[in-house]
Amino acid sequence: MVKIAPSILACDLANLEKEVSDIEKAGAELVHIDVMDGMFVTNISFGLPVVESLRKKSNLAFDVHLMIEAPERYAARFIDAGADILTFHIEACEDAEALLDTIHECGAMAAVSVKPKTPIENVYSLLEKCDMVLIMTVEPGYGGQSFMPEMVEKIGKLKAEIENRGLNVMIQVDGGINAETAKICREAGADILVAGSSVFKSEDRKAAIDILR
Ligand code: DX5
Ligand code: ZN
Repeated sequence: MVKIAPSILACDLANLEKEVSDIEKAGAELVHIDVMDGMFVTNISFGLPVVESLRKKSNLAFDVHLMIEAPERYAARFIDAGADILTFHIEACEDAEALLDTIHECGAMAAVSVKPKTPIENVYSLLEKCDMVLIMTVEPGYGGQSFMPEMVEKIGKLKAEIENRGLNVMIQVDGGINAETAKICREAGADILVAGSSVFKSEDRKAAIDILR
């Protein structure tokens, strides 16, 4: 069964505690936290203080997606702040292997992400050290964009590579996930679906999560 990770980028941030408790009650397994620095992506979202404060109010697994330049500068601090899974972009980082090791040494699960234009083969040499790979299905930076169907092929390729090598790596997809695109991603082999708008903008969050699953 796939796991659902609603992205708080689309929630009412003035009521963050309640929004996260809502999706937990609605059955989400993780909460996805999008950190943006205005450099790696053009948008700025939130950072360490938000993760730290929310950690005191929620027991959900924190899935932190760093969209920042040189993520090695902050990995340990985001794990201290409460990240359970820490994802960074392969495009933003000089030594991805070393950073995956650092994340594990700090006690979190480690993941790399690829932007739409980055070939999925670029992560193959890192798979032994990854707990998860995040395939972006929109250009990172903003919620509410349309799913890029060309990305589905990447999911299938990565799934085959993981299975052929007998590895235990989860595949996550992020961007434009709704009832229709969730089905396509599940069938292609995704294990975790990130969804911002389609969960938080719907009245009935449980129904929204159930339909993605
Ligand atoms: C985009 C973020 C996504 C975003 C998804 O850069 O990484 O997690 O919040 O939002 P939706 O589901 O609205 O496309
Ligand atoms: Zn994200």
